[in-house]
Amino acid sequence: MTIERITTTEIAEEELALESTVRPRRLDEFAGQDRVKQNLAILIDAAQHRSEPVDHVLLYGPPGLGKTTLANIVAAEMGAQIRTTSGPAIERAGDLAAVLTSLDKGDVLFIDEIHRLSHAVEEILYPAMEDFALDVVLGKGPGARSVRLQIEHLTVIGATTRVGAITGPLRDRFGVTYRLDYYTQTELERILRRSAEILDVSLTDDAAALVAARSRGTPRIANRLLKRVRDYAQVRGGGDGGVTAALASDALALLEIDDRGLDAMDRQLMRAMAEHHGGGPVGLATMAATVSEPIETIEDVVEPYLMQIGMLARTPRGRQLTPGGWEHLRMTPPTGASAQPGLFDA
Ligand SMILES: Nc1ncnc2c1ncn2[C@@H]1O[C@H](COP(=O)(O)OP(=O)(O)OP(=O)(O)O)[C@@H](O)[C@H]1O
Ligand SMILES: [Mg+2]
Repeated sequence: MTIERITTTEIAEEELALESTVRPRRLDEFAGQDRVKQNLAILIDAAQHRSEPVDHVLLYGPPGLGKTTLANIVAAEMGAQIRTTSGPAIERAGDLAAVLTSLDKGDVLFIDEIHRLSHAVEEILYPAMEDFALDVVLGKGPGARSVRLQIEHLTVIGATTRVGAITGPLRDRFGVTYRLDYYTQTELERILRRSAEILDVSLTDDAAALVAARSRGTPRIANRLLKRVRDYAQVRGGGDGGVTAALASDALALLEIDDRGLDAMDRQLMRAMAEHHGGGPVGLATMAATVSEPIETIEDVVEPYLMQIGMLARTPRGRQLTPGGWEHLRMTPPTGASAQPGLFDA
């Protein structure tokens, strides 16, 4: 059985419009990630002083935290054009070469899911990033020779949810690498208030706090929940369509999102670990099979958040429910080793 997740970090088609309406355009509209923001501001300032493009930037972190948003902001702050592509979209080396030769000086080339670039394409990217050069092979066989073409100075911004999957040589070519973290309650409240204003929804402070707490530290989810509670308030609120804490709470209960932002799938996964595996350790593949989701979804999306809020721990032999996880399920761990998380913590 597949459960449709309201807390998914993937973007549905109809959601793209929402994302682009509420997406911050400038650095000062971007809430949170203060360390990354400060570093980027310096990078941008320095580059502008030298009238040079900014250094290549690698952004990584869980989905929905603002990687694409920041890439667009860097381009906007630099007054540069941005070209957006992704690892899987660039199939052949020639595709990338075509993009590279079409860029103007200072343009930003944003490569999403950069860990999925093929080897042949990566080979084209190295000299482009290092020397702003394109090596073209002319001819075939013994007569083949390589010609180096100069391209415009560009800024490559790479984004990935799995920095570990990026090859060493590619990582080395980025001047700076920033990790995005889950947002705090206060930051999410700020984001929600700003989005509510843009969407012309009245949102009480209590309601903002309640929705923020259930957003899994993720702006994308915060905005999505805001939209759903707004719909609920319009239909069930009876009044002016404003969102109160009571209405938000009812709306989220209907969506089966609990007070920690966990949804039915998270709970199904945790319950299966508790009931069938004594709380773990359980391998990723087993976990994925339990909820019929790809392993990558468990690894990149589900697990990092459950670990972040201390419900799941990683051990050398697999994943394990923590006392907090058991408590959240309102279940008691069996007596034995698995009831002592921390013992095998990596
Ligand atoms: N710091 C922020 N302040 C306000 N809104 C934000 C912030 N970060 C992200 N958002 C909102 O969350 C949405 C998702 O952000 P974004 O698309 O940049 O995430 P991402 O990290 O690129 O995700 P993915 O890994 O899925 O590509 C954006 O449309 C934007 O509206
Ligand atoms: Mg993105």
